Order: sequence, then C-alpha cells, then structure tokens
Amino acid sequence: MSKIPPKQEGDPNTTGHSWDGIEEFDNPMPRWWLWCFYACIVWGIGYTIAYPAWPLVSSATAGLLGYSTRGEVAVEIAAVEEANAGINAQLASVELTDIAADPELNGYAVSAGAAVFRTWCVQCHGSGAAGFVGYPNLLDDDWLWGGDIEAIHATIAHGIRNEEDDDARYSEMPAFGEILEPEEIAQVVNYVMDLSGAQADAGLVAPGAEIFADNCSACHGENGMGDREQGAPNLTDAIWLYGGDTEALTETVTYSRYGVMPPWTQRLSEAEIRAVAIYVHQLGGGE
Ligand code: HEC
Ligand code: HEC
Repeated sequence: MSKIPPKQEGDPNTTGHSWDGIEEFDNPMPRWWLWCFYACIVWGIGYTIAYPAWPLVSSATAGLLGYSTRGEVAVEIAAVEEANAGINAQLASVELTDIAADPELNGYAVSAGAAVFRTWCVQCHGSGAAGFVGYPNLLDDDWLWGGDIEAIHATIAHGIRNEEDDDARYSEMPAFGEILEPEEIAQVVNYVMDLSGAQADAGLVAPGAEIFADNCSACHGENGMGDREQGAPNLTDAIWLYGGDTEALTETVTYSRYGVMPPWTQRLSEAEIRAVAIYVHQLGGGE
C-alpha cells in the first residue's frame, strides 16, 4: 500500500474519490466556462422559440419569426418569376414562328426550355433527348408527327394517345396477330426489313409486298415512307422506335404498340410549353 501524503494547508477540497492513493480534487468549473454554458442555454431556448424546432405529431412548432427553408425557396422562385414575367408574357403571345427570329426571346426560350426538359421530359426521352426503345429520339430529323415548330408545339401541348386531352394526337395500328396468319406476318416483316435495307429472306419479300400494300400502306404509305398525319413511322430509314430485327418487328406487327405521351397544358404554362418546343426544335432536327 502506498502512503497517502497528509493533507496540507491550502489544498483544494477533494471529492472523496481515491484510486490507489490518487485523489480527485473538487475544483469549481472556470467562471468563463460556466458563463458560456449559461449563455448557450439562454440562446438555445430563444432559438427554439424564434425558429421551427419542437416536433409535433405531424409537423413542428413554427417559431415566432415564421421562418422556413421552404418559404425561403418560394420567395426566391416568386422573385425569379416576377423578373421573367415580362419576357414570359411576350413568349406566350407572339407568333410561334416569329420566336426564332428574335435573338433575345429565342435565347431565353432555349435556356428556359432546357430547364423544363430536364424536369419533365428526361424520364422518357433521356437526358440527352436521344430517347429509348419506344420513346423517340428528339435529336434527329426523323419525326413521327412533324418537326416544324407548330407541329412540335401541338405534340407537346396535347400529347399522344392519352385520355386526358381530347386534342391529343391519335392513331392506332391494329394488332395484326388477329388479322393475318403467322406466315403472312413473317412475309410482311421480311418485306419491311428489305424496305429498310436490312438482310431479308428473299422468298418472303415478294409476297410480303402484297400484304403490305393491302394492310399497311394506308398508314405507312405505298412505299413505306410513313405518314405524319397518323404518326405512322417511316419504315425505310432504318431508324426504329421499337427495333428493326425480326423479333422486334414480329412483335410490333403481331401486337402493335400504342405509344402514349401525356399532355402538358394542365401542368405547364403556355410560355413553358413554347420554351420547351423551341428547345426541342433547335436540338438538331427542327424543320
Ligand atoms: C411518359 C413518357 C413521356 C414523357 C414524360 C414525355 N414524352 Fe414525349 N413522347 C413519348 C412517347 C411514347 C412518344 C412517341 C409516341 C408515339 O409513338 O407516337 C413521344 C413523342 C414526343 C414528340 C414527338 C416526336 C416525333 O417524332 O414526332 C415530341 C416532340 C415529344 N415527345 C416531346 C416531349 C417533351 C418536350 C416532353 C416534356 C415536356 C415530353 N415529350 C415528355 C413519351 C413521353
Ligand atoms: C392504322 C394505321 C396503321 C396501319 C394500318 C399499320 N400501321 Fe404500323 N404503325 C402505325 C403507327 C401509328 C405506328 C407507331 C406506333 C406507336 O408508336 O405506338 C406504327 C408502327 C409500326 C412499326 C414500328 C416502327 C418502329 O420504328 O419501330 C412497324 C414496324 C409497323 N408499324 C409496321 C406495320 C406493318 C407491317 C403494317 C401492316 C401489316 C402496319 N404497320 C399497319 C400505324 C399503322
């Protein structure tokens, strides 16, 4: 056992704890530390009164200052909208076809349209607008429904084959599995492959041409060049919405496809729809 040195005059009090003869002094906290501590408590109480803090069942106390990060964003958005109100009104009211000729309006429309596109269109058309199977590429000059600014605007405003908008673009390719025999489908599929320049079974192409003339040309045109009035794709250009191999073509012809795009008039303002139409138009394929 070590010896505990005797207590000396002027030694601080101890807490009474002792480990192997080492005793714990009972010194008070430093004054400056205590004051900081009390100040923090006061500040903390003040803060939870002034700002949103205490959780309630489904929300939190609002705080006397009425501050919220959401509110702050709303104010910023309102400020941007107010700053753009003039140019948006102009964008929504001028002739669609005149926008491209006005550099200031056109520049604004392209950048605003790019933002609309990133928010509302990339899920289906891809962030680079190159599309996916079933969702058309908007960069090229191959248009289902038309590539001038008015056609693009109408497609975006009303959508395609949706049930929400009576002015939606509409057409419906029949499911030929219910109309033609499987051999006939194989024949017409080979004819379509031949049309697009792909390797096809020569023996099937000639009878396929007849089937095409009887069943398909009303929509896709006598020579398969398509019809924009009906959104019927050009089948000669080797640009495929759903795929150009035997399997994909057989599926398209047997079951048909029925691609749907929502209308945007209920969700976007006219200025936003025009902006995104201008944006799509200038991506490369605009007519
Ligand atoms: C839910 C998926 C979806 C969303 C979201 C969507 N689209 Fe589409 N879009 C389609 C489909 C599917 C088609 C092709 C339909 C068909 O087969 O005719 C299409 C076709 C188009 C066309 C016609 C292309 C052509 O060749 O004529 C344009 C233009 C277009 N979309 C623009 C847009 C814009 C701009 C937005 C955003 C505001 C958007 N789309 C959002 C699915 C979508
Ligand atoms: C009533 C009009 C109509 C008729 C008739 C029709 N089609 Fe179509 N076809 C369309 C439309 C519209 C589309 C686009 C479908 C979509 O996006 O949902 C299409 C799409 C296709 C595609 C897909 C093209 C691609 O890029 O992937 C092929 C292939 C095709 N049709 C072949 C045929 C063949 C072969 C026949 C005859 C046996 C035929 N169609 C008859 C309207 C028609």
